[in-house]
Amino acid sequence: MPDTPPRLHALCRYDELAHGESREFPLPDGDTRSVFAIRHQQRIYVYLNRCPHTGAPLNWGNDQFLNFDRSLIQCTLHGAQFRIENGLCIWGPCLRQHLTALPVRVEKEMVWIDLGTLAEPAWRAR
Ligand code: FES
Repeated sequence: MPDTPPRLHALCRYDELAHGESREFPLPDGDTRSVFAIRHQQRIYVYLNRCPHTGAPLNWGNDQFLNFDRSLIQCTLHGAQFRIENGLCIWGPCLRQHLTALPVRVEKEMVWIDLGTLAEPAWRAR
């Protein structure tokens, strides 16, 4: 499979995300999907806001992606729970499936993600 060229996108400043905080971000260029970022133990993790169970967004309110004690990502619809570190579902209807992770780079106080790894939305791929 050929390498996909990087398509770097500046998500936010590193210090905008506090430890244990999650935040939703829109995607650029008219893409109607969103991603969410979590700062966990000084690392930033970014996933597409799409549950592998039905394809629905995961959050139950503005920037609410985590369970009660903020140790796992939790889907609002049917309660699937995912590890923050790798997006693996460890409980729920999509057990052992993964969230779609985006490569993250922190450079010059900014959080960058690589959109080149993300499949085009169905409406754009036609
Ligand atoms: S849509 Fe996420 S668990 Fe069902």
